[in-house]
Amino acid sequence: MEAPRVNLYLVGFAGTGKSTVGRHAARALGYTLLDVDHEIERTQGRPIPQIFAEQGEPAFRALERAFIAQGHPAEGCVVSCGGGLVVPEGMLPLLKARGVVICLHASLATILERTGRANNRPLLAGENREEKLRALYAAREAIYRRTGTMVLTDSRPLREIVAHVLRVYRQEAREWRPPA
Ligand code: S3P
Repeated sequence: MEAPRVNLYLVGFAGTGKSTVGRHAARALGYTLLDVDHEIERTQGRPIPQIFAEQGEPAFRALERAFIAQGHPAEGCVVSCGGGLVVPEGMLPLLKARGVVICLHASLATILERTGRANNRPLLAGENREEKLRALYAAREAIYRRTGTMVLTDSRPLREIVAHVLRVYRQEAREWRPPA
């Protein structure tokens, strides 16, 4: 029997490498890559900072939830999730009901460095970026740890990270079952 093409959801803090690793994993698996942030920007016709500014964070979280609940195919996808997607109540069970969830992890120092260049993250925008990042990281760490298998992305070559993610995915995809 052919292995089912169970979706793979990559979660984790901003700057842990979800988009890059997702792109490589999707290519290796022959799956479609869906980046939730990009999909929301495309369907809303506005960048994320504008959605936050005009409608607020709860509206953005509702768009994320709608995308996960009914906005994408049920199989054959690698879905790179925004850093806060898995945080609201009910999102983790929803993801787990749709596929394999793998969390990418990195130290605060790595994240600070990786997120330093771009200004497209409204939760980290403005003054005291480091303080904001530290607070968000502390508030979310326990949630990320509960999501599933964690793959470290600090000081490791990309191909090694991708190979690790693929190994975990193949193993967990074999065991994954849709909710009864
Ligand atoms: C967010 C992370 C961003 C994006 C939005 C909110 C968060 O995605 O979804 O700015 O709450 O951590 P990345 O993790 O891709 O930066």
